[in-house]
This record gives sequence, structure tokens and C-alpha cells, in this order.
Amino acid sequence: MLRDSMMNNNEERRHNTVSSSSPGKGIMKPTVFIVVSLFISAALLNFLGFHDFNVLAGSKLITKKHQPTFPYQCDAVQNQSHQTQYHYSQNNGASRFNPNRSKQRSTCPSYFRWIHEDLKPWKETGITRRMVEEASRTAHFRLVIRNGKAYVKRYRKSIQTRDDFTLWGILQLLRRYPGRLPDLDLMFDADDRPVVRSDDFIGQPDKEPPPVFRYCSDDASLDIVFPDWSFWGWAEVNVKPWEKSLEAIKEGNNMTQWEDRVAYAYWRGNPYVDPTRGDLLKCNVSEHEEWNTRLYIQDWDKESKEGYKNSKLENQCTHRYKIYIEGWAWSVSEKYIMACDSMTLYVKPRFYDFYIRGMMPLQHYWPIRDNSKCTSLKFAVHWGNTHVEKAREIGEMGSRFIREEVNMKYVYDYMFHLLKEYAKLLKFKPEVPLDAEEITPDSMGCAATERWRDFMAESMVTSPSEESPCEMLPPYDPLDLK
Ligand SMILES: *[C@@H]1O[C@H](CO)[C@@H](O)[C@H](O)[C@H]1NC(C)=O
Ligand SMILES: *[C@@H]1O[C@H](CO)[C@@H](O)[C@H](O)[C@H]1NC(C)=O
Ligand SMILES: *[C@@H]1O[C@H](CO)[C@@H](O)[C@H](O)[C@H]1NC(C)=O
Ligand SMILES: *[C@@H]1O[C@H](CO)[C@@H](O)[C@H](O)[C@H]1NC(C)=O
Repeated sequence: MLRDSMMNNNEERRHNTVSSSSPGKGIMKPTVFIVVSLFISAALLNFLGFHDFNVLAGSKLITKKHQPTFPYQCDAVQNQSHQTQYHYSQNNGASRFNPNRSKQRSTCPSYFRWIHEDLKPWKETGITRRMVEEASRTAHFRLVIRNGKAYVKRYRKSIQTRDDFTLWGILQLLRRYPGRLPDLDLMFDADDRPVVRSDDFIGQPDKEPPPVFRYCSDDASLDIVFPDWSFWGWAEVNVKPWEKSLEAIKEGNNMTQWEDRVAYAYWRGNPYVDPTRGDLLKCNVSEHEEWNTRLYIQDWDKESKEGYKNSKLENQCTHRYKIYIEGWAWSVSEKYIMACDSMTLYVKPRFYDFYIRGMMPLQHYWPIRDNSKCTSLKFAVHWGNTHVEKAREIGEMGSRFIREEVNMKYVYDYMFHLLKEYAKLLKFKPEVPLDAEEITPDSMGCAATERWRDFMAESMVTSPSEESPCEMLPPYDPLDLK
């Protein structure tokens, strides 16, 4: 199935992914996943289940008495979600929304303003059905939301279970803000690199760019960025849903105080996904050179065989400086690295994901030149070790940004506003394609097994948010972007 899959996200190489191609059914069959080799420098997991799944970061629990629960047919989903006997329906959910509370709305983080920029190519023309259908050329699936229900038409299987976890995230968004998402019709491409080159469209009035949703883009492309699947878990490499991972890293941070952290730059990952990573390895400490780095190759074959016991996240926050470097495209490892309370040494990237555009060099991270990595790294660490308080502050600011502005509340809010703004541009009434299938938490969750099922249960939204989505700021002034 995944012939095109040299296109992995950064960390991993290849997996033999197998999954029933019939949508919504038998989606996750982890037993047939052979994890060949994988992923991330920040790495992962196996935390004990200490976290109450019912509490979403940033969202308030509704008082017990009124807490609704969702209908269910299967145990896994039910075990996580069911707290009370109250039954829930779309309409109930919407009417429970208390407008008084919405007055306490918070303002969205500044990076939300990029939503306007990402949608700008269609601001004048709007988006026609033909433009959406044009985007099916590379799409893995088409998502239609009609009257609060989600319908999917699948074109091809994605790498691993990216598509399923992305759809799972969208279902949770519908549960979090029931009745508040408009009808829409979009195409999602779950591969790594952007495909809509702006040169092919800008200044060519007879050509209209197809609106393609994906996980990252770059300055030469018009792809619309959307949160990646790992926020709901990356089961193939045992990276738990973001909510839990973040908790674990918080604990890990506590384990090694700054003074006790190793005063070198740390990186662990798969160097074979892109030449720039191979180039980074040349900067490792050696007999002849001290580049102030400690670089390691992550052997995911070994890790997977040993049940990921040696790749716990909390053991990865032990150095004062941590290196982020993209792979084939942006790297999912970014948020786990940035959350470590260490100063992130951020190798100049080509790609961006949805939140990195809110981070500022020297405030949230230290930029590293990509064309002279070794000297740039050596200098950064030297600077940090001679400006200890400042380096520590940059580390803290970066982690605080991740914890406070990239927690699940804001991930959902970003999705909410992006989809809402996108829907405003549609010039047609979305209709459910004949061969599309409705997806529900049960159709996806009940069909999943093992870790795939656990992660879905753990990342499930169990009740509608009483808090409104944050308030969007107006578009950037073009001058601000300079
Ligand atoms: C759900 O909970 C029941 C009782 O606690 C347990 O017997 C059952 O195995 C659980 N099911 C799953 C899929 O975890
Ligand atoms: C909202 O606030 C007003 C005045 O403070 C109050 O009369 C009303 O009952 C409140 N509505 C709800 C749904 O709580
Ligand atoms: C961090 O450590 C301090 C004391 O060393 C402790 O009071 C605190 O509860 C810990 N926090 C977490 C999140 O583990
Ligand atoms: C980098 O150097 C350290 C210390 O000598 C060594 O342990 C590590 O294996 C080296 N990493 C690579 C990728 O060679």
C-alpha cells in the first residue's frame, strides 16, 4: 500500500502499513504494523496512566450534574467517556452553551492570524466546487461536514494512520463545539511536503490554486496548514496524545533542574531522512573537534523491539540545549523538543507548521544557520554557557509558549477558526458525495485495536466545551509581516 512513502515525516523511515481500505472499519490493525524503524529525536513514552482523560487542557469540566455523555456502542470508547448516565445529543449540546460565559472569551494567540494569510489566495475569488475537486489530485481524503456530521470519501491510504488520527481529531472538534461548525467540503493531503506551488498560480488570472489542507507548507507554496495527527497520538511509534505527552514532559523537566543539565547541545533522531540531518551529524564531538554538541542516532528498530523502554520523554530533558532540525519536511519532534525547558537551537527551517509562526528567534529559541551548522551550534552553546540566565530564560519562554499557546484548547480553536474562515469562502452548498461514508467516534474508535484504540480513547473529547473558542484577531497589517 504505501508506495509513495519515501515521503514520511522526518523521523521515521518506512513502515509496512496495512489497513483495511474500507473506510471506517478495521482501520487500525496494529498487529500487522511492522514497525521497521522510526521517528523522533525527542522521543517518547510509556508513561504510566496518571492522567485523568476527562480533563482537557484548558477546557473546564462541566459540573458533574450536567455533564453529558456520548452515545456509545463499544467498550473502549465507553470506558473512557462515560461518567454519568446523561445522554447527549447534538441539539442538547448546542442549547447548553451559555452565552454569558462566552463573554469571558480569551483572545487567540497571535499565530492564529496566519489563518487569514493562508486563505488569502481565495479571498477575492472565493472557492468553487471545481477548485475543491481539483485538489483531489493529491488528496488522501475529502471531508464534508453537513449539519454537524462528518462524511469522508477516501482516495488512497496515507502513511501509517495519519489520516485516521486527523479525522479523529476533527470528530473531537465537532464534539467540543457541537453545532458551531458550518457546513464545509475540503480536501486533505496527508503527505509531508507542500504541493501547490505559488509560482504556478500567482499572477495567472486564468489559473486558480486548489485549496489543499496538509500539515505544513513553505514560502513557495499555497498549501493550507492544519495541526498534524500526533496531537491525538502517533501510535506507530508509541507517542501518546499531546495532552498526555505534555504532562509527562512537565514531570521530566522537574527531574533535572537547569543547573544539573548537561551544558551541551543534544539531538537524537534519524539522520537518514534528509541530507541536512546527515550534515548535522558532522558536528558531533570528536577527538579533533569540540562543537559543544552530543548527537545520537535513534535506533527505532531496537526501541520498538524493546517496547520503547529506553526512549521515555522524561529522560530527554537532561541537556541545557536541544537541537531542532527538520527532516523530509517539518518534524513532529518540534513540540516535544521545545517543551523541555532547555534552550532550543533551531536550525533554519524551510517548512512551517501552524504554530511555529508565532515563535520569535532569541525570545523562544536560538536560530542556527543551516549552511554552517557546526560553528553556529558551537557559538550558541558558548553564548548560553556565558549568559546562563538569559539562555535559561529563552528555554523557559519557548516551553511556556508550547504549554500555554499550543495546548489542546488552542489546537482545537485553531482548527475551529481555520475551518470556519475556510467555509466562509465556499461559493457552493456542500453536499455529501454519493460514495462518502459518515464517520463517528464509534465507527472509528470501535474498529481500532491495541494502542490505536487506547490513543483514541485517551484523546477523546468527553463533553462539549462551555468555554467559547478564543477570539480571532484581525488579519495582519501587510507592513507587520515584513
Ligand atoms: C471496559 O471496562 C470494563 C470494566 O471495567 C472491562 O471489563 C473491559 O475490559 C473494559 N474494556 C476495554 C476495551 O478496555
Ligand atoms: C446571563 O446573565 C443574565 C444577567 O447577568 C442573567 O439574567 C441570565 O439568566 C444569564 N443567562 C444564563 C443562561 O445563565
Ligand atoms: C516539581 O518538583 C517540586 C519540588 O522539587 C515539587 O514540589 C513539584 O510538585 C514538582 N512538580 C511536578 C509537576 O512534578
Ligand atoms: C557522538 O559522540 C558521542 C560522544 O563521543 C558518541 O557517544 C555518539 O555515539 C556520537 N554520535 C554519533 C552519531 O556518532
